Amino acid sequence: MTLAAKKITFIGAGNMASAIFKGMLANGYPADHITATAPDEKALLALRHELGIHTTTDNVAAIADAEVVVLAVKPQIMKAVCAELREQAVKTRPLFISVAAGLHASTLNDWLGGEQAIVRCMPNTPSLVKTGASGLFALPSVSPEQQSFTDQLLSGIGIVEWVVEESLLDVVTAISGSGPAYFFMVFEMMEKAAIELGMPAEAARRLILQTGLGAVRMAQETGDEFEQLKRNVMSPKGTTERAIHTFEEEGIEALFLKAMKACADRAVEMSQEMGK
Ligand SMILES: NC(=O)c1ccc[n+]([C@@H]2O[C@H](COP(=O)([O-])OP(=O)(O)OC[C@H]3O[C@@H](n4cnc5c(N)ncnc54)[C@H](OP(=O)(O)O)[C@@H]3O)[C@@H](O)[C@H]2O)c1
Repeated sequence: MTLAAKKITFIGAGNMASAIFKGMLANGYPADHITATAPDEKALLALRHELGIHTTTDNVAAIADAEVVVLAVKPQIMKAVCAELREQAVKTRPLFISVAAGLHASTLNDWLGGEQAIVRCMPNTPSLVKTGASGLFALPSVSPEQQSFTDQLLSGIGIVEWVVEESLLDVVTAISGSGPAYFFMVFEMMEKAAIELGMPAEAARRLILQTGLGAVRMAQETGDEFEQLKRNVMSPKGTTERAIHTFEEEGIEALFLKAMKACADRAVEMSQEMGK
């Protein structure tokens, strides 16, 4: 494995934290370098037995000798958790990686006492099946070595894209953060239409899923522009052309722009609400 084994503590041991540390363990990261915290001793005990990592309900003790701290609690309780960690964080200054949706790195920095090295990550739900797409932003205080560590760490649950301005994480939210739901909505609408056209539901579901997978594979393997890939399926006066023209006549492109803009605007609003 290439990831340097640093002592790493996860504050919060829920879905996102366990996706990340399970990815690390699968890549050979030493279990005894990982600590996870949560309020429920019973849930932690199960993790300790299953994975061999350290666990504790004491957040402050858990970060005392950590080189890296992953903040993986719900955004609503992050301010209280940071207040608890602040004194220790100012003493030891680990690298903080936050996966909390909507909380600005500068807000976390204030809550953690200032001058902290913080990476903010915007992951998505497919990270739970190791096919995630995460946007990452680093404060200038993060060293190139810490950035490289974060990159490798989060590559364990999917792909990562660094952005140079934090505001672009709101756009990441509109693309990959919320994006899985757009695809599920298309699948759902295709399924309803297929059933309406007489196809049994189970067969429709299998055909839709394989078509989605096949389209992604073709785009990845050819590297062709999406526009070109679409044109390749559209023979003149053919069936696909008729379908695509129907979508276009109904203004689907403008609708997508409107929906993704609304999503990014909401991300901005939520960051403002949560940063208070
Ligand atoms: N799930 C996703 O796909 C996804 C996608 C993008 C971003 N995120 C972000 O990831 C973060 C975690 O989300 P999640 O889905 O993993 O939530 P989750 O499954 O509810 O995990 C939260 C964890 O934090 C623990 N916790 C609660 N209070 C705590 C405290 N005071 N100190 C330490 N741990 C505490 C919880 O323990 P108990 O269960 O015992 O309360 C639980 O283990 C959120 O900020 C979210 O915005 C998640």
